[in-house]
Amino acid sequence: MVPKYCFMLDKNSIHTSGDARRLAQKRLPWLVFDYIDGAAGEEYAEALNRQQLQRMQLQPRVLNNVEHRSLGVNVFGQKTHLPFGVSPIGMCNLSSPHADRWLATFAAKHNVPCGVSTAASSSLESMAEWSQGCAWFQLYFSGNEASSKALVDRADAAGYQTLILTVDVPEVGRRPRELRRGFKMPFKIGPSQFIDFALHPRWSLSTLRHGRPELGNFGGKYGEFERTASRAGADWSLLSRIRDWWKGNLVVKGVLSSDDALKLKSMGVDAVQVSSHGGRQLDSGPPPIDCLKRIREAVGADYPLFYDSGLRSGEDIVKAYASGADFVFLARPLLYAMAARGEQGLAELTSVLAHETSITLAQLGLTDINDVSDAVLVNAGDQ
Ligand SMILES: Cc1cc2nc3c(=O)[nH]c(=O)nc-3n(C[C@H](O)[C@H](O)[C@H](O)COP(=O)(O)O)c2cc1C
Repeated sequence: MVPKYCFMLDKNSIHTSGDARRLAQKRLPWLVFDYIDGAAGEEYAEALNRQQLQRMQLQPRVLNNVEHRSLGVNVFGQKTHLPFGVSPIGMCNLSSPHADRWLATFAAKHNVPCGVSTAASSSLESMAEWSQGCAWFQLYFSGNEASSKALVDRADAAGYQTLILTVDVPEVGRRPRELRRGFKMPFKIGPSQFIDFALHPRWSLSTLRHGRPELGNFGGKYGEFERTASRAGADWSLLSRIRDWWKGNLVVKGVLSSDDALKLKSMGVDAVQVSSHGGRQLDSGPPPIDCLKRIREAVGADYPLFYDSGLRSGEDIVKAYASGADFVFLARPLLYAMAARGEQGLAELTSVLAHETSITLAQLGLTDINDVSDAVLVNAGDQ
């Protein structure tokens, strides 16, 4: 017999990022879910990073007064209210029609950075306005230097102070789940996609009502964006020119090698974002959480290092800070939450992650996220 309390479970609430993912999987067409959730190849890289995060252990400490705890972090001179921000996401509004805008207003509310992808669904100008100055523009080198420079100039004119250059996509990774579903932008709707959309009417009707998701930075006078275009021509001399063009903060995202990080530091890059692109690029790549520790050792204690990839809970966030991050970013969990329950879902997940991070600090005998160091890791040397 099923126990009576089973009927009292609220299956639509978000208590973990796993809840958000489960709800998103129900709501989204398979094509869209697999675009968001998928990774390169057999998805080993993604799974291995998660395993490494799960294997890391945190050392509880007792009888410190931890009544008052703080999650704010200093990022390029701005004090955030939360210890995590929004990693850049292309075609974000596939998860829900206003997702970009919700992320921007979330960033403004919590004073955290919001990465705005070259391939964002809304224009970089709108994102700058909605985020009230919290947006960071993320540049994909397009293979054409003049059009990349034009985007950088647009970001400057729109008031951006931070540019993220993503460097781990010389060619777009092969993501078999996308290929099997026939994922293309703009959508090509054949019989299987038609059935997929028909079987997910909530998403399909709301997408119909709000119009097909677009690439907000392109079209008309801004030309077109080819998602799978090669960026293989990008090299160190391009970086040096971008450093000359951009006077604000320059972050280079998608770095997993200590040598690369050292070279970026020496070339005047203001921060490196350690990331495997969520395992979406190289299936045999090393777990980025391990790379973070090595890169921190290489660049020294004071150089700004950011981290994204595979963070799913407050404990994961603390583990990334313990491994050397000065700030961290999330992508998929935010998309799942918005796909599941719209802006309310984003607020619920935010509150879950903030609460989880805060009570993790309490367990570790700490009151401030800035006091997290590798001393909280059990057997730090062996991990
Ligand atoms: C649907 C989707 C689109 C993404 N688009 C971009 C992008 O346009 N630019 C970029 O630098 N990273 C992009 N990323 C990578 C994320 O910024 C982030 O590095 C990655 O998802 C790892 O974080 P996660 O494990 O929290 O998802 C994208 C990721 C996803 C899932």
